[in-house]
Amino acid sequence: MASMEELQIIGGSQLEGDVNISGAKNAALPILCAGLLTSETISLSNLPDLNDVSTTIKLLSKLGSITEKNGPNKVSIMSNKIDNLKAPYELVKTMRASILVLGPLLTRFGEAIVSMPGGCAIGQRPIDQHIKCLSALGADIRVEHGFVIAKAKKLKGTIVRPDIVTVTGTENIIMAATLAEGETIIENAACEPEIVDLSNMLIKMGANIKGHGTSRIVINGVDKLYGANHRILPDRIEAGTFLCALAATGGNIRINGVNPYDMLATIDKIRLSGVSVKQDNGSLLCSMNKKPKSVNIVTCEYPGLATDMQAQFMALNCVSYGTSMIVENIFENRYLHVQELNRLGADITINGNSATVRGVDFLSGATVRATDLRASASLVIAGLVAQGKTTIEQIYHLDRGYENIEVKLQKLGANIKRATNRNDE
Ligand code: EPU
Repeated sequence: MASMEELQIIGGSQLEGDVNISGAKNAALPILCAGLLTSETISLSNLPDLNDVSTTIKLLSKLGSITEKNGPNKVSIMSNKIDNLKAPYELVKTMRASILVLGPLLTRFGEAIVSMPGGCAIGQRPIDQHIKCLSALGADIRVEHGFVIAKAKKLKGTIVRPDIVTVTGTENIIMAATLAEGETIIENAACEPEIVDLSNMLIKMGANIKGHGTSRIVINGVDKLYGANHRILPDRIEAGTFLCALAATGGNIRINGVNPYDMLATIDKIRLSGVSVKQDNGSLLCSMNKKPKSVNIVTCEYPGLATDMQAQFMALNCVSYGTSMIVENIFENRYLHVQELNRLGADITINGNSATVRGVDFLSGATVRATDLRASASLVIAGLVAQGKTTIEQIYHLDRGYENIEVKLQKLGANIKRATNRNDE
């Protein structure tokens, strides 16, 4: 008998009120793994309460770290007794970001064994660039029996250049280089704000890093890193998701605890769709009082529009005036939400990596299935405007990356609830 949680939404309410943004998942995951670089304690605040964060903490515990919860969004981690250098398949298969332990373990302990992440719903997501660049730093890396086995007495700084821009790849190289001998230069580095947040934490720990936030990062290796405290930066994708939701439903909301400069591409697009957005001391005052206009979307690396916002903008375009083109440039299969949105009455056709969205007058509620994290968010947005009841199944995907999304939306006046589905299907 399957028992799974689902979200039930009755569409039609405008959003009104305040919403507080949580810490960024994609900064929290590498920063948790950075704890492996020191025998001293790191203390993190504004850590989002998410399944991916729990999975990372479980992984660190498995390696021997001692983790302690110090409050609702606070954790401290001490890695002075690491007694296992192997990240098992059971954890890596549920979360690809587990690969982020590779760089830290290898550089501090001279060895790391990490299960190969398998395929993923949104694309193949190989890790060849992580392997290429860590090898360039002198690691001996083999892939055997489904594991990446990396060894190096001491990594040596050099110039590395991933062939493509990779976020977690850049993070793995930075972490590995902090304790390498001499200077490492990463060319073609990813520039995401989450990389800057990780680098800022590493600098507090004693690392010597320059150029983070640009495509050329220079790291000078140090002998040792120390404990530090850090507040995780706000989640620009969560904030962007609430912006798209507001654009679709109409209303007035204040989005608190954001860093607007990290999400200018999203703010720019959402203004084009018709939302008024004003900055007010770390908050965004947003109002929408008309039917949205379709906006064309082309995803690319930061500072371009994030692939992690593509599905949410698509949901918005479904109920906007006019026709839009969406081009997904980062992942080869990130259109799993299209079929589900079409089940709600959307008019979307896919052609290779682009999609044409013809705005419709209304969506009508139905049962749909969440297929990955951001796809789930797009279904929530669609459900908020669809006529009648939308049931979203398999919301464990949503819980990987959104903290209490239904509670935050309820507070804004949405008719949404979490329920347990006991159907045996
Ligand atoms: N790629 C390779 N080889 C590599 C690494 C990447 O071919 O060795 C390809 C990927 O397959 C993809 C592209 O390069 O086509 C970019 O992938 P990237 O490595 O940048 O993605 P990632 O580091 O695995 C992070 C986020 C994702 C986000 C992407 C793109 C974390 C933990 N995850 O993934 O977040 O979509 O960057 O910005 O930071 C999400 O939060 O929903 C999510 C999927």
